[in-house]
Amino acid sequence: MTACPIIIDCDPGQDDAIMLLLSLASPDELDVLGITTVAGNVPLAFTSRNARILCDLAGRQELGVYAGCSRPLVRRLVTAEEVHGKTGIDGIEITEPITPLSDIHAVDFLVETLSAAEKNAITLVPIGPLTNIAAALIKAPEIAEKIREIVLMGGAMREGGNTTPSAEFNIYVDPHAADVVFRCGRPIVVMGLDVTHQVLTTQARLKRIKALNNPVADAAHNMLAFFDRHDVQKYGSDGAPLHDPCTAAYLLQPELFKAKTCNLEVEIHAELTMGHTAVDFWQVTDRPKNVQWVHEVDSDGFFDLLIERLGRY
Ligand code: RIB
Ligand code: CA
Repeated sequence: MTACPIIIDCDPGQDDAIMLLLSLASPDELDVLGITTVAGNVPLAFTSRNARILCDLAGRQELGVYAGCSRPLVRRLVTAEEVHGKTGIDGIEITEPITPLSDIHAVDFLVETLSAAEKNAITLVPIGPLTNIAAALIKAPEIAEKIREIVLMGGAMREGGNTTPSAEFNIYVDPHAADVVFRCGRPIVVMGLDVTHQVLTTQARLKRIKALNNPVADAAHNMLAFFDRHDVQKYGSDGAPLHDPCTAAYLLQPELFKAKTCNLEVEIHAELTMGHTAVDFWQVTDRPKNVQWVHEVDSDGFFDLLIERLGRY
């Protein structure tokens, strides 16, 4: 089986970090063509540095890391240091990374890489605000046909919002970019809070990661131990939802997930519900079914996969 070419667009973030480590531990299935970074959990300078630190940690200093947009298309940037800490990846030591930062802008990397590809060739995996992806589609609409599918983390339907009562963080930060992406016409798999809130980093699961006893698993454990504290207090749950790695797990073992083809539209006008993802789950409208809305996951199977892959480092 040939590995699936993917581009990961991220805003590390501890959960982004785990998604990167899971993806980079799976070279037989996922061919990471490059990592693009966007402002989100923390400002762009930090998300770009953090992506490089994670490439160092994974032993992949040759990977291209491309800094992208430093603010949303229209609105001002909203960050989430209260969740991720000031560095964005609190829980591990911050050192000057070896992995270089490319001088090519992320949007240009996306446009150039997709322009040079065959039709339906590359899977995009955005796990932060969708600013870079939207900007690339606006700059070069012809790249859309080169996208095999988009597997993204964002949105909420049955779960309330985690940033406002109505909206999940990635979509809330840049709702206009999300609107562009959801209207792009390519196959889109959406990992919203409805599914990510089913994969909790319980104490038992953290212990299994710690028991792997390798430097990467230790770093993953320490980041998750930090990441846990905010959401455990917020939700009163045994562990925090592990959002972003659901995208990589879907690409590796799609059978772990259940999805339904639905229409999804984003609120970009009303401030009260800004960034809300209106998912027509029961098809009460005749709006086009533009996404696969993922609503169920085998959470034990998800963690078995994650822990097995972290054990490969
Ligand atoms: O709402 C969760 C999402 O927002 C995750 O991608 C997390 O990293 C933050 O970006
Ligand atoms: Ca993220």
